[in-house]
Amino acid sequence: MNGQIYGIIGHPLGHTLSPDLHNWGFARLGLPHKLYCRWPLPPEEIALFLKSFRLLEISGISVTIPHKETIIPYIDGLSPQASRIGAVNTLYWSGDKVLGTNTDIKGFTTPLLSAGLDLDSALVLGAGGASKAALYALKEMGIRTTVTNRGEEKAQSRANELGIDFCAWEKRHKVTADLLVNTTPLGMQGEKSGGSPWEKSMRPFKAVYDIIYNPVWTPFLQQAAEENKPAISGLCMFVSQGLEQFRIWTGLELDYNSALDHLGGILDIQNIPAC
Ligand code: ATR
Repeated sequence: MNGQIYGIIGHPLGHTLSPDLHNWGFARLGLPHKLYCRWPLPPEEIALFLKSFRLLEISGISVTIPHKETIIPYIDGLSPQASRIGAVNTLYWSGDKVLGTNTDIKGFTTPLLSAGLDLDSALVLGAGGASKAALYALKEMGIRTTVTNRGEEKAQSRANELGIDFCAWEKRHKVTADLLVNTTPLGMQGEKSGGSPWEKSMRPFKAVYDIIYNPVWTPFLQQAAEENKPAISGLCMFVSQGLEQFRIWTGLELDYNSALDHLGGILDIQNIPAC
């Protein structure tokens, strides 16, 4: 059987758990001819990369920052999910065509559904690129959503784009919602670590969802644990979007809890906030 190669492109790529997830999946399902690699790729190399992708018939690609939008002109078509969100995180073949899709919406939705929470409304903090999947997912789930952002214009335009509510950043503590979602980089490893956008003056929430997964236990999730509130980690979203990529590429399903346990083991974390 011929070998098949997959991988992730991004810049700077830094450490990514995607090879751990996909190579674990290939081994678990007895697919030793498949290999997932990491390819740091500067923006100016994107055209050359796509040429190589076609020439070498690379089987599939995960696409991350800053290529999620700029890759679109180089591929042959978009799935409805990628068109809606205007960004691609997965390349796959359909016959002789290279198509782009986006598994982030499903990635956000799956852990929320499996948590079985009774949610009517959500407040989403942040309106950058990372907020899009959360906002689209919540809208599709019929959860009444308000978006707020430090820079007002960005939140206002996201709200207009999706037909959802908008709230000025200074007024976010007045919003009542069941779910609080963090899509800002506050709490992320690096210069923003230790930060949290959840302030004491905010109204109480039933549950929280942080899309950050590095570190898994952000200050935002620690606050939820201290208040005994159900919480979902960005690691759950990461695993769900990855398993959907795996399904698209191989047609095979991997068990979500086993994948989460595997990555928890690599990160040496026993209690992953997954409700
Ligand atoms: P992107 O997701 O577009 O790459 P980002 O730098 O990761 O952008 O930031 C995501 C969102 O978090 C942005 O909407 C950003 O607000 P601005 O539009 O005002 O920059 C928000 N954000 C970043 N740092 C923040 C902070 N310290 N406090 C509050 N919000 C912040």
